[in-house]
Amino acid sequence: MSSQSIRPLAIITGGSRGLGFEVSKALTLQGFDIALIAKDDQRLEAAAKLIREADRYHNGVSTSHISTFTCDLEQPDLVRKLIDSLKQSLATPSVLILAHGVMSEKMSKTLKTNDAEWRRVMAINLDSVFQLVNGIAPAMADARNGRVIIFSACLGRMSGPGNAGGLAPYRISKAGVNALVRNLAHETGLGARGFLVDATCPNHSRTDMGGPDAPRSAEEGAATAIWLAIRPFNAGDVTGVLWEDKQVVEW
Ligand SMILES: NC(=O)c1ccc[n+]([C@@H]2O[C@H](COP(=O)([O-])OP(=O)(O)OC[C@H]3O[C@@H](n4cnc5c(N)ncnc54)[C@H](OP(=O)(O)O)[C@@H]3O)[C@@H](O)[C@H]2O)c1
Repeated sequence: MSSQSIRPLAIITGGSRGLGFEVSKALTLQGFDIALIAKDDQRLEAAAKLIREADRYHNGVSTSHISTFTCDLEQPDLVRKLIDSLKQSLATPSVLILAHGVMSEKMSKTLKTNDAEWRRVMAINLDSVFQLVNGIAPAMADARNGRVIIFSACLGRMSGPGNAGGLAPYRISKAGVNALVRNLAHETGLGARGFLVDATCPNHSRTDMGGPDAPRSAEEGAATAIWLAIRPFNAGDVTGVLWEDKQVVEW
């Protein structure tokens, strides 16, 4: 399926539910074509259907091109196959949002967890993030028109309560995401070459991961990522940082 339209394209992981779904819906309503990625085929198709319906409801007609790609992002070989398939079937995206992720098990303290749990969380939360950025973002950087936004977490901050113990694989995977974002921004000219890369902490939000009692709605949790995808970028603005509520936070 090729994307021939002149609408900008956003590729979004985790698009089947939670924060990734909210971002996908909002960008569609803003005029983007979107490519959604998740593991569960049925959830992904249901999400695409809901987004089409929302587009039709808001815009009177749904003209957006919504494509879906299933992949288990825990499997590095499958992630590389996914990247090949995205490149073959889609135009270069202007936005790449990585909103997939898993929480580590409750008792996953450094001295209690095990290789399997460490590897599962690192593979999904950090390794696949590297692979997707490494595979998809070079064309965005070459086009001098790219925004990469990665969902991190305040639990991955090196300051404040960030790395204050417990949930070791999760916290450390997100600290890795923050470091990757900063490093890549420096490698690509800190925005001067039209390529921005940022991390966002959505704060505790009501999703399957955040649970029903979280203080924020999924819409609120997704708002900063949506803003990063479309914000104007002027001289003096920053990239390569962690954002929370559209403000830079130390990590
Ligand atoms: N919610 C919060 O309070 C909160 C707070 C801080 C940070 N975050 C971060 O925000 C991001 C989104 O969180 P969320 O609350 O929206 O999570 P969620 O509701 O649990 O959704 C997780 C998403 O990740 C996808 N995913 C998980 N494992 C995958 C795999 N192996 N392969 C492919 N896709 C996979 C899921 O796809 P399937 O539907 O196919 O399983 C789903 O779309 C995550 O990175 C999370 O760490 C969330």
